[in-house]
Amino acid sequence: MTLYGIGLGPGRADLVTVRGKQTLQRADVVYTPGRLSRSVASEHVPDTRISDLSFPMTHDADELRTAWKAAAGEIAPRAREGCTAFVTLGDPNVYSTFGHLRRTLEAFHSVEIEIVPGVSAVTAFTTALGIEITAGSSLALREAAGGVAPTGPDRMILFKVTDVPSTHEGLIESGYDVVYGRRLFMESGETVVTDDPQAVADRDYYTLAYAEKRGIDDDPPTAAFEGTDTRATDLGGGNHDE
Ligand SMILES: C[S@@+](CC[C@H](N)C(=O)[O-])C[C@H]1O[C@@H](n2cnc3c(N)ncnc32)[C@H](O)[C@@H]1O
Repeated sequence: MTLYGIGLGPGRADLVTVRGKQTLQRADVVYTPGRLSRSVASEHVPDTRISDLSFPMTHDADELRTAWKAAAGEIAPRAREGCTAFVTLGDPNVYSTFGHLRRTLEAFHSVEIEIVPGVSAVTAFTTALGIEITAGSSLALREAAGGVAPTGPDRMILFKVTDVPSTHEGLIESGYDVVYGRRLFMESGETVVTDDPQAVADRDYYTLAYAEKRGIDDDPPTAAFEGTDTRATDLGGGNHDE
């Protein structure tokens, strides 16, 4: 049978796709790599069918490989017997733990794998932060953990912004305007959208930033009218005040 890698979206049960929900409901066992993905999955499947897998928080490659081999060893026989799922927040193919599992399974086991895409933070941020990426504009995806401030591209989404004040300082010095989004479209924790680095100064892994070079000179988008602001501000789920 098949292992389904299911993207759960940014963290609200109603942003799981229809296909994702149907696949979750068909699965004999749903493996979750963390507390947040478990809480979203559990809105669609009974707890008795959910199984937790834990992975070490380390950059040690050997330790990580050992953990992924153990996870693949647990999942492979179940996936061969029946319908099995492994869930990740966002999309399974975007900066995701699922990539490690898929590579390990491909290297050591013979298991059919199918991916059900999810709403990634890469796209959800546009609605949450009220930003429109118009046709023709380029956007780079980077990591900014531990206070680093990547620079270069005109527009960047930065993941893992764990030390906002330090990252902010570097970006401002390099000529960027920055907006931060924390726990966007998530059921747990407070959603914050702000351009004030002090408002998100404490560490929260689920923080991203959108950085845009000041004064970039783009062609105006089609149907741009003077005096209108097309920016959206509603998070859709109405969870600003969670
Ligand atoms: C390892 S990446 C996982 C990305 C995920 N696979 C996706 O497609 O959205 C984790 C980073 O994504 C960002 N992120 C994911 N979900 C988020 C959310 N709901 N709100 C804010 N940032 C989020 C954070 O920067 C976090 O550190």
